[in-house]
Amino acid sequence: MPPAGTPMNHNEALVRVVDLKKFFPVRKGVLFRKELGQVHAVNGITFDVPRGASFGLVGESGCGKTTVAKLLLRIEAPTSGEVYYDGKEIFHQSPEEELQYLRAISIVFQDPFSSLSPRMQLWETITEPLRISGHRSKRKYKERAAELLKTVGLDPRHIESYPHRFSGGQRQRIAIARALSSSPQSWS
Ligand SMILES: Nc1ncnc2c1ncn2[C@@H]1O[C@H](COP(=O)(O)OP(=O)(O)OP(=O)(O)O)[C@@H](O)[C@H]1O
Ligand SMILES: [Mg+2]
Repeated sequence: MPPAGTPMNHNEALVRVVDLKKFFPVRKGVLFRKELGQVHAVNGITFDVPRGASFGLVGESGCGKTTVAKLLLRIEAPTSGEVYYDGKEIFHQSPEEELQYLRAISIVFQDPFSSLSPRMQLWETITEPLRISGHRSKRKYKERAAELLKTVGLDPRHIESYPHRFSGGQRQRIAIARALSSSPQSWS
């Protein structure tokens, strides 16, 4: 892999996963938490995601798909293996590189009923990834939320609604609008 800071090579995969492993300890007891063994949630997976491509990871329940996603999002630390994003290893980033990386990726969770805050209006939920690091006016964020709602096929007039009034499919669209709000990179 090229060293950090090397200009982007458009033929190179956007994401490269090499022999990635994640083992979780299985413990017993409350106080001493004796380790009984390990769950091999991800056991040596290797794949490339090309730029601009849709990539599906399919497998039976419990085979490790969500764990792979959590490793890519750096919610979990790997037992071993490497992941490259745009040619750069993601588990050994400087704080600035990590921030840049976390801005470039997004997740849409499986369950649209627990992934949206019931206390936030749609514009707040949708623009939360932007508001964490940005300082625009409330009006600008509402405008962005309205655009994103249109993009996912929902009425932009709903920006001040709460999620309880939407169906599961509509909520999943709201979660997609949120994931798109910081313009995650999938090509270019
Ligand atoms: N934090 C954890 N601690 C211990 N074991 C875990 C943890 N997270 C996941 N596991 C185990 O790792 C394995 C893979 O789980 P994972 O959630 O990645 O599966 P999945 O492929 O996403 O399944 P599904 O299709 O049901 O969503 C399972 O056996 C699960 O019990
Ligand atoms: Mg899963």
